[in-house]
Amino acid sequence: MHKSVLLEECIENLNLKDDSVIVDCTLGYGGHSSEILKKINRGFLYAFDQDKDAIKYSLERLKKINNNFEIINTNFVNLEKEIKKRVAEVDGILYDLGVSSPQLDIDERGFSFHNDAKLDMRMDKENKLSAYEIVNNYSKQELSNILYKYGEEKYASSIANGIVKERSKKTIETTLELAEIIKNSVPAKYRREKHPARKSFQAIRIEVNKELDVFESSLKQALNLIKVHGRICVITFHSLEDRICKNIFKEVSTLDPNLKKLPIIPEELKPKYKIIGSIKPKTTELDYNNRARSAKLRIIERVR
Ligand SMILES: C[S@@+](CC[C@H](N)C(=O)[O-])C[C@H]1O[C@@H](n2cnc3c(N)ncnc32)[C@H](O)[C@@H]1O
Repeated sequence: MHKSVLLEECIENLNLKDDSVIVDCTLGYGGHSSEILKKINRGFLYAFDQDKDAIKYSLERLKKINNNFEIINTNFVNLEKEIKKRVAEVDGILYDLGVSSPQLDIDERGFSFHNDAKLDMRMDKENKLSAYEIVNNYSKQELSNILYKYGEEKYASSIANGIVKERSKKTIETTLELAEIIKNSVPAKYRREKHPARKSFQAIRIEVNKELDVFESSLKQALNLIKVHGRICVITFHSLEDRICKNIFKEVSTLDPNLKKLPIIPEELKPKYKIIGSIKPKTTELDYNNRARSAKLRIIERVR
């Protein structure tokens, strides 16, 4: 089962009140949403996910708590459009990015380099682009760019070479075939460190789901939806998504340097948002949840 990361910290920092209207952009298996729902008896929860399996499970889980929620089965890149159809502003927005443990563990989803499955990695099973297309059809240069950019993989070029060489003999069908090709494309010393396919699988997953682009777009929309005194909490799991969050938060909470010279800064020109902080999981959480290792929670509040 999925163990929610930084759960207490999120609940605390969302400043939930009995009548809060909250958006959970990444419902998953409902860990955060359940705790939110328990605290907003007169409020409302909107929860997004693009994965029908996760929604089916969470719908039952949330129904047992209360009925003041709606699950919106779409990509959170549609956040503003979907929320504006329902309400003008909300009190809190949460992102817990990436894939859930069940998505990783169910072999047929093809996310894991440990289990054999058809190459897939789509969070939304209706997406046209899957890992199979990328691995078998992208050019060597495109593959190398993705592995370098989204996996920060130093052997991107040799892995891309290995993939192109092997697929010229036969199409690459499964996760374990791909993991083996990656293993054989990197130096022996590198194979002894972490699993040599880890970064490449992350990179291909990001490309399949366009994860960085949709997150950046959605987070900017979230800033437009949040009420004064409302908060946005974001849990990231790798440096690429964390950097996007950090930069956006910094940009919207920093005073325009040209204004610093003014003796009095007009209220309407001061930043609308204030960074509350960033939190890493406690060691007690790391002891029982390996997934929390690379997690970081960033919090911002709309102040005017
Ligand atoms: C880490 S899990 C969330 C777990 C959840 N907070 C819990 O405690 O059970 C991330 C979920 O977000 C979903 N997701 C990721 N990116 C998404 C996107 N762009 N749009 C909609 N859902 C997304 C995934 O399908 C997955 O179910």
